[in-house]
Amino acid sequence: MTENSDHDHSQRKLIIAIDGPAGAGKSTIASRLARKLGYVNLESGAMYRALALKAIEEDASFDDEAALVKLAQESRIQLEPTMGGNRTLLNGHDVSARIRERDVTEAASRVSVHPGVRAWMVARQREMGVGGGVVMEGRDIGTKVFPDADLKVFLDADPVVREQRRMEQQKIKGEVAANVAADLRERDHRDRTRAVSPLLAAEDAVVIDSTKMSEDEVLAQVEELASRKLRHSVVRSIP
Ligand code: DC
Repeated sequence: MTENSDHDHSQRKLIIAIDGPAGAGKSTIASRLARKLGYVNLESGAMYRALALKAIEEDASFDDEAALVKLAQESRIQLEPTMGGNRTLLNGHDVSARIRERDVTEAASRVSVHPGVRAWMVARQREMGVGGGVVMEGRDIGTKVFPDADLKVFLDADPVVREQRRMEQQKIKGEVAANVAADLRERDHRDRTRAVSPLLAAEDAVVIDSTKMSEDEVLAQVEELASRKLRHSVVRSIP
């Protein structure tokens, strides 16, 4: 599906932060919004996932902060937007599918608690988004990576609904579904309670509870917020 933009691209290019817990619909909304605006969609979670995969491959402990930071420094983690979606490359290899598997998902949540790992990630993410024209999604984009982002959205939903969406997305049922739900709850808890940059809505974020909303409704609301910011930035630029 192409979602052609009817926005004026001569305008200033915004930095848009979309944060929220797993299963709230961030990825879908961020990628559809980016397509509409002609922006790049950068998924910060994929970078934590790529590092987690590297740690698994190297048999590094998820609790060894120094070893993880060293691994990050030695690795080349790239997010590559393509027409068919985003690809994640680890040292030149396409790991887009591998990083979605259960062991990497669990490991990503564990490696991301370390301040040193986060500092490295935040620095890379700032470099990637600094020029604007990006929709960056994650957990700490509006609070830490781009505290001055033009638009901050915190996308949330009831935990039960998030679990259901995840299961539908992955077309899973029964015992596997129960595992997915338990994993999601555990990951949520870890993301929200970690000491450094816990998952939290920025004070100036627009919080959208998508529990009872369709994907199209959420997108329309976020798009309207972005359009308002763009209109505002044009008015401001008139001498
Ligand atoms: O968004 P995701 O599910 O792909 O993220 C995987 C893990 O990475 C998640 O459990 C927490 C961590 N993460 C983070 O700490 N900060 C971010 N900006 C993005 C992800």
